[in-house]
Amino acid sequence: MGKGKVGIVGSGLVGKSWAMIFASAGYNVTMYDINNEAVQNALVDIEAQLLALEKSQLLRGSLSPKEQKDLITGTTSLEECIKDAFFIQSAIPENPDLKKKVFKNIAELVEKDDVIISSSTSCLMPDIIFSDSARKSQSIICHPVNPPYYAPMVEIIPHDETTQDIRKRTREIMAEVGQKPVLLNRAIDGFALNRIQYSVINESWRLVQDGIMSPEDVDTVLTAGLGMRYATIGPFETIHLNAEGVREYMEKFASSIKRVSATFGPTPDYSGEALEKICDMIEAKIPLDQMAKRRARRDKLLAGMAKLLKELDSE
Ligand code: NAI
Repeated sequence: MGKGKVGIVGSGLVGKSWAMIFASAGYNVTMYDINNEAVQNALVDIEAQLLALEKSQLLRGSLSPKEQKDLITGTTSLEECIKDAFFIQSAIPENPDLKKKVFKNIAELVEKDDVIISSSTSCLMPDIIFSDSARKSQSIICHPVNPPYYAPMVEIIPHDETTQDIRKRTREIMAEVGQKPVLLNRAIDGFALNRIQYSVINESWRLVQDGIMSPEDVDTVLTAGLGMRYATIGPFETIHLNAEGVREYMEKFASSIKRVSATFGPTPDYSGEALEKICDMIEAKIPLDQMAKRRARRDKLLAGMAKLLKELDSE
């Protein structure tokens, strides 16, 4: 059974999610890691996750947990992982030298020019990680959001040499396996998600640093306000709907946006009193020894929200 073979390089948090995402769409997955214990633990964990997902009715795809699990195998041979795969998704630690070396090795093992070689990197630029690869034109970044199984957006960032065909097919495959791909026309530091996220973190930090609000209240601005809105419609649709279109919105509000934006302070240095205040608040609410419980809650809420949005959104 299986539609075609996908090779996953690295069986950590993100590698496991990719394996589950591709298996949910019916692909055969071979997951490689340098560490045999990591691969074996990943297979056990995936099986447990698939059963739990079915129990909570959050399993993706139409195959049973057993059918999905049976599509995933583990290996400690990179050759075995790469052989005959049409798509290779790497998810190894965020270390530029390691990534350079691994993409060089992958490129040497790949035999066909149409195989897609993809990296999960959160912030390393394609010209760095693919610099030693002999197959730059078929290399690309697919950066998922943590947790990738529940937050479907994936940003696709090409190398300057990546062909248009690889860019297009990567986007199509990501959509086919149930992710929500977005494509950057060229690489930019931070890609899209982190550039936008950092602008939110900067202003949230400044509001606490300048004594305007408590950290708890800043979190509430997002969770019960802006975040709820943005989980359903983006900033452009928001302004389009909040007036009779974007043009009218800007006629009315551009001057306010410019006035307020001129008061934004410099990028915080993320240390000192504000750091202490924010850590005190968040560690009182979520002690550092209770992170796993809170991450499980986050994943449950995200998964439930994704399911609800899918059910409610018939358009
Ligand atoms: P992780 O530390 O959970 O897993 C990395 C795995 O790679 C480990 O199992 C390790 O044994 C294995 N590994 C190390 N060297 C290897 C090699 N040479 N060949 C094959 N496997 C090797 O890391 P995680 O969190 O899964 O991150 C992987 C990538 O995904 C990173 O580039 C990270 O920036 C990116 N990413 C991470 C997100 C996150 O929230 N954790 C979100 C989005 C992207």
